Amino acid sequence: MSYTPSTQRYDAMEYRRCGNRGLRLPAVSLGLWHNFGGVDPLENCRAILRLAFDSGITHFDLANNYGPPPGSAEENFGRILHEDFHGYRDQLIISTKAGYTMWEGPYGDWGSKKYLVSSLDQSLKRMGLDYVDIFYHHRPDPDTPLEETMAALDLIVRQGKALYVGLSNYKNEEAAKAIALLRQMGTPCLIHQPKYSMFERWVEGGLLDLLEKEGVGCIPFSPLAQGLLTDKYLKGIPQDSRAAKPSGFLKESQITDEKLSQVKQLNELAIKREQTLAQMALAWILRDKRITSVLIGASKPEQITDSLQSFRNTWFSTEELAAIDKILR
Ligand SMILES: NC(=O)c1ccc[n+]([C@@H]2O[C@H](COP(=O)([O-])OP(=O)(O)OC[C@H]3O[C@@H](n4cnc5c(N)ncnc54)[C@H](OP(=O)(O)O)[C@@H]3O)[C@@H](O)[C@H]2O)c1
Repeated sequence: MSYTPSTQRYDAMEYRRCGNRGLRLPAVSLGLWHNFGGVDPLENCRAILRLAFDSGITHFDLANNYGPPPGSAEENFGRILHEDFHGYRDQLIISTKAGYTMWEGPYGDWGSKKYLVSSLDQSLKRMGLDYVDIFYHHRPDPDTPLEETMAALDLIVRQGKALYVGLSNYKNEEAAKAIALLRQMGTPCLIHQPKYSMFERWVEGGLLDLLEKEGVGCIPFSPLAQGLLTDKYLKGIPQDSRAAKPSGFLKESQITDEKLSQVKQLNELAIKREQTLAQMALAWILRDKRITSVLIGASKPEQITDSLQSFRNTWFSTEELAAIDKILR
């Protein structure tokens, strides 16, 4: 069935400025790491993307290796983009990345100029795009000079293949160096994409301060700890969950009794706040104004509807914050 986006799609979403830059992103963005590969039903991918866009989610995040198989999420996204979102390219912020293993040989991984430029060319072809809005270096490369990797990002922007560049998984010191190099080159870093959730709080140890000081945005990934920070695992492992899927990155071994006990207590707190645990976990991140957007995943359209309620209440009392810290300790 043909698709016409909702005319109300911009009414309810909050859009936050990316650091000190002109670009604004939705408070909730959608990533296509899981559930959009060649192994996943295309019609479900389409339903999720349509609902997301109808709800004001304008930002979709990909990477060269998303699938499985690697590259298939970009292919599926490109197909749906051209079939459903034709005419809406200027209302979308599409990102992709390179930095993990993508093809065999010495040029298909890490951070050389050869890899990054070739990989983005392949991504653009898979998605049928002339340019992406944001291109990320996916992870730091200990063996390539940072100058070369940042020069590759600068080149890509000058070639018109990306409008902005970002860093992902860079720790404080290497992020500071990369941000300084990009600024010197005249292609300032737009955004950093770190892992951040109630269960993974390393960014609180300096990265958020650095990004604020440098005017760089922050878009945390896996804010629901891949689904652990929801009520879904409280009664066992559902068959259709990420932990039960062979291609899922969340392993049963990560769902420990200790984690489940914390999730149970957090869930009780969420109920008192009249939120689902997913909503509270996202609101807890979004309460910090240095966060531009939370980058969620979804296996069903209903999860987006649920998670989108998160920014309706991002206020936490001192007692609630202390109770959360105590549970997580
Ligand atoms: N830069 C990087 O290195 C990096 C690494 C990882 C991810 N990312 C990006 O971050 C995005 C999000 O990562 P993620 O998928 O791990 O995020 P997440 O939001 O922590 O987890 C998403 C999963 O949680 C479950 N879920 C989501 N909303 C729910 C709700 N309201 N109620 C119940 N369950 C819910 C679903 O799992 P089920 O499948 O079990 O239903 C969904 O697939 C990725 O797509 C990717 O774009 C980047």
